[in-house]
Amino acid sequence: MAKSFFITTAIDYSNGQPHLGHAYEKIIADVLARSRVCFGEQAFFLTGLDEHGQKVQQAALAEGKTPQAFCDHLAIGWRSLPKTLNLRIDDFVRTTELRHKQVVQAILVKLEREGHFYKAEHSGFYSTRQETFLTEKDRLPNGGFDPFYGEVVELKEENYYFKLAPHQDWLISHIEQNPEFVSPENRRNEVLGFLKNQKLEDLCITRPASRLSWGIPIPFAPEYVTYVWFDALVNYISVPASHGDPIVCQALDLPGSSGEAGARELWPADIHVIGKDILQFHAVYWPIMLRAMGLPLPSRILAHGWWQKDGQRMSKSTGNTVDPQAVVTEWGVDAFRYYVVRELAIGADGNWTDAGFSGRYHSELANGLGNLVNRSLSMVHRYRGGVLPARSNDLEAEAAIASGETESHLRACNPQAALQSIWALIARANQYVDQTAPFKLAKDPHRSARLDEVLYALAETTRVLAVLLWPFLPGTAEKIYAQLGLGNSPNRFTDSSWGGIRPGHQLGPVAPLFPRKDHPKA
Ligand code: MSP
Repeated sequence: MAKSFFITTAIDYSNGQPHLGHAYEKIIADVLARSRVCFGEQAFFLTGLDEHGQKVQQAALAEGKTPQAFCDHLAIGWRSLPKTLNLRIDDFVRTTELRHKQVVQAILVKLEREGHFYKAEHSGFYSTRQETFLTEKDRLPNGGFDPFYGEVVELKEENYYFKLAPHQDWLISHIEQNPEFVSPENRRNEVLGFLKNQKLEDLCITRPASRLSWGIPIPFAPEYVTYVWFDALVNYISVPASHGDPIVCQALDLPGSSGEAGARELWPADIHVIGKDILQFHAVYWPIMLRAMGLPLPSRILAHGWWQKDGQRMSKSTGNTVDPQAVVTEWGVDAFRYYVVRELAIGADGNWTDAGFSGRYHSELANGLGNLVNRSLSMVHRYRGGVLPARSNDLEAEAAIASGETESHLRACNPQAALQSIWALIARANQYVDQTAPFKLAKDPHRSARLDEVLYALAETTRVLAVLLWPFLPGTAEKIYAQLGLGNSPNRFTDSSWGGIRPGHQLGPVAPLFPRKDHPKA
């Protein structure tokens, strides 16, 4: 089997419930993964949970549960998120799984044997919430530390450190020579600025088990557990290893290296989709870890922006949050998927307001797409008994432009621009209905041939739209195909070329796609 297009998201901390920010990231990744299916590739989409570390241990303690019981309980809700969002995932990892822990330990042993670590004592200020030592640079002008760090304590500790100095120069050249490695561009500049302006400090990769027991034990020093980031990042290769990926298995000398039947070729990842707050872990520490292991680097780290709600940071404690499940229950999953992808360019920050959501729902989904599909197909039923007339090519050029642009924007990881191209076609087709006025043509028997042309062009545009929409709104795209009486799935981009629907074809039953919700209830 050829290498799959391998796309991942961050794995979420299992210390709370999923919110809009988590859901947004997963939807972007799903759109990009589905687009590769449309291009005829094998795609492998991985997401999961980051279950170790201080944050989770503290949250479990606060509920009087063991960390494992706490995680097992929360995982039930998190595992249902992919279903709620209609994500086409191929695996879901929990870092407490044996398959993951074994790989983390194998890496630790290999890197220790090859001299990448040393043990040293460090004293300084430690943020328990962020699980990290702070330096003088982190102090605020008033001498304190940002509340983001929570409680900061003075600590003197021996730990294992990962030597980073030998990696700084090659990483800078890698980022300079591979413009797509970190995107968007402003994030790439941020990483380059960070790397060029200071000497990298070695990374502390252990925590004494006496202080923090909820982690993966260090095989050669069982009085320590693994630093949660050294553990979490490894999910991107521990899962490929569990699927027998030859590159990972060989580099780490794991079983499965001999190319077993059913093995998947996944590594290197094509895209890591992450939020801007965890860029340094992905664009600095992770590439260095991979290089030390002798593994190739991912092709692209795509850093998205952050959502606020009503201009405020989302937070559990204040209740200022958007619950993806609630939005989906009220508006439907495709309305949610559409809104978050359409609203933000990747990299930009966003602000959720209920009014903004409802506005796009009504103008772009109900009036734009829904109305076009509904009136186009209803007219074929009303005027031609649901049977497609002879082919015409009105709107063919516009449909071809939309297809070409959609494909190139998706390849460039710009799903928002792809939606703009698709909606330009929707706007043009709605304008075409107004200009050609088929309801008037239908009243004049001499204009029957023109009516045929208009009806075919609209039905075929509807079909092309279903194909273009599938990565974004898979359920809606499939409903449009069913309404067109087409039995297959609109998940092949090659099907977006004009003329796919045959004259004489019988349409299926029509039903509204996005019912309006802004009229007072009777
Ligand atoms: N567990 C780490 C990631 C380890 S990846 C090897 C983590 N977890 S998290 O739960 O805090 O965040 C998970 C992802 O959700 C991150 O990419 C983060 O940027 C994203 N978001 C969390 N809140 C967000 C918003 N308010 N808006 C957009 N994305 C946000 O970090």
